[in-house]
Amino acid sequence: MNVAIVGATGLVGGVMIKVLEERNFPVGRLIPVASERSVGKEVRFKDQSFSVIGLEEAVSLKPDVALFSAGGATSLAWAPRFAEAGTTVIDNSSAWRKEPGVPLVVPEVNAHILKKTDKIIANPNCSTIPLVVVLNTLHQRYILKRVVVSTYQSVTGSGMKGVKQLTEERAGKTSPLFYPYPIDLNIIPQGGAFTENGYTLEEIKLMDESRKILGIPDLRITGTVVRVPVLGGHSESVNIELEKDFVLEEVCSMLAATPGVILQNDHSKQEYPMPLYAGGKDEVFVGRIRRDDSLPAGLNLWLVSDNLRKGAATNAVQIAGYLLEKGYL
Ligand code: A2P
Repeated sequence: MNVAIVGATGLVGGVMIKVLEERNFPVGRLIPVASERSVGKEVRFKDQSFSVIGLEEAVSLKPDVALFSAGGATSLAWAPRFAEAGTTVIDNSSAWRKEPGVPLVVPEVNAHILKKTDKIIANPNCSTIPLVVVLNTLHQRYILKRVVVSTYQSVTGSGMKGVKQLTEERAGKTSPLFYPYPIDLNIIPQGGAFTENGYTLEEIKLMDESRKILGIPDLRITGTVVRVPVLGGHSESVNIELEKDFVLEEVCSMLAATPGVILQNDHSKQEYPMPLYAGGKDEVFVGRIRRDDSLPAGLNLWLVSDNLRKGAATNAVQIAGYLLEKGYL
């Protein structure tokens, strides 16, 4: 497979290359792509160097698959160009996620919707991915009635610019802010621009994408997205109301048996997921599982997942792996 990474010099692009290598994805030729600023830079893959090229040249090489993580504008303009050249695009931006004909996929939940003819496939938002992995298991057995989620999102979710602001503030440097406020020693309850109803764009993505992936268009879900001065991953506090009552032990064992989930829920050992330890891992870590006694069938839990891995690169590579396995690539 000839594999293009569009955004190869970025945070997610770099992790995509690492995950392709770790998973031994059958890469014939790696084609790193970035903006004109980066053309000629070297990218390492399996102890070899590959030169970054521009988008026009990359399209002309007709890669079998292109993993995109170079922002919405690049995806909007270039994903169709690659698709027309016969390349299957797996796009990590939000540009195509809401498009009705474009599958929005978390393999553990809905890989079965993928078809050989899909040429643009959307990779969901970094908070949505771990959330739906957990919600799907609960929905299969108890049926979701309502979900309330609050996120605590790593600065790595904003790409290089978010990480730069945090590290520079920590080093005492005063440079122009990427976020609207200082992020070190602070939390910012804003993810992206505000919309008319008072929600931010990241909150709308979390709610709309969960409905689309789970296939529950009328799911009652509400969210608050918060940026925190953390690197290892996104955390989420999730309150879930179910249609059917449950036994807590059964919920725990079902989540423990969910592919891609690791339970860290031993209260007696103060065991619970934290971004410091989830960083660099591919799984969704779940803990603090307890009843919400204010509801007839209510559940609280806490999840953490590395947003650059399962929240972005790993999920995209898993989609590519599924397509390969099915003979769709
Ligand atoms: P470049 O490094 O040349 O700017 P991050 O989100 O971590 O900041 O990474 C963004 C990625 O998207 C980088 O690889 C960046 O390349 C790439 N990128 C940004 N704008 C464009 C563009 N107009 N065309 C191609 N790649 C782009």
